[in-house]
Amino acid sequence: MGHPDLWKPSRPVGPADREGLTELIQDLLDTMRAASGAGIAAPQIGVPLRVVIFGFESNPRYPDAEPVPFTVLVNPVVEPIGADRDEDWEGCLSVPGMRGLVPRYRRIRYRGEDEIGATIDREVTGFHARVVQHEVDHLDGILYPQRIERPESFGFIQPGFPPQAESGSDAMRRE
Ligand code: NI
Repeated sequence: MGHPDLWKPSRPVGPADREGLTELIQDLLDTMRAASGAGIAAPQIGVPLRVVIFGFESNPRYPDAEPVPFTVLVNPVVEPIGADRDEDWEGCLSVPGMRGLVPRYRRIRYRGEDEIGATIDREVTGFHARVVQHEVDHLDGILYPQRIERPESFGFIQPGFPPQAESGSDAMRRE
């Protein structure tokens, strides 16, 4: 957060982009796994294309979340089904050390293509629906803090400001 490219919409993947897709997906996967993320979008690694990946069996960042199938989604389209929304905690690899309560549609339909161009068309609910909405927001230049409706539900994961928490007890001992 703070990099201007994260606030810009990404462009659709066209035929000319297909060749580089395998490498892009590998880079996304490596980055997501290294950071224990639930998902990641191409603009987060500096590639302004409409590609996201997500999915996990279990995730230390979201211990209560049900598993989400690993998915590569190219040129996604998301439609809410109904108006019901739920609030739940989200974090983001581009907003390290923080989390917030974000309202998202409870049920959505999403469509797109996988890495070889096969159609994906799913109706999902719960955390799966949340992850898709979060990742597709990245493609429209939206970060989750913009979706937070109650500022008091946004803050640091660890108490105290991160530099103090990281430099550890030295600063504390000096007091
Ligand atoms: Ni994110």
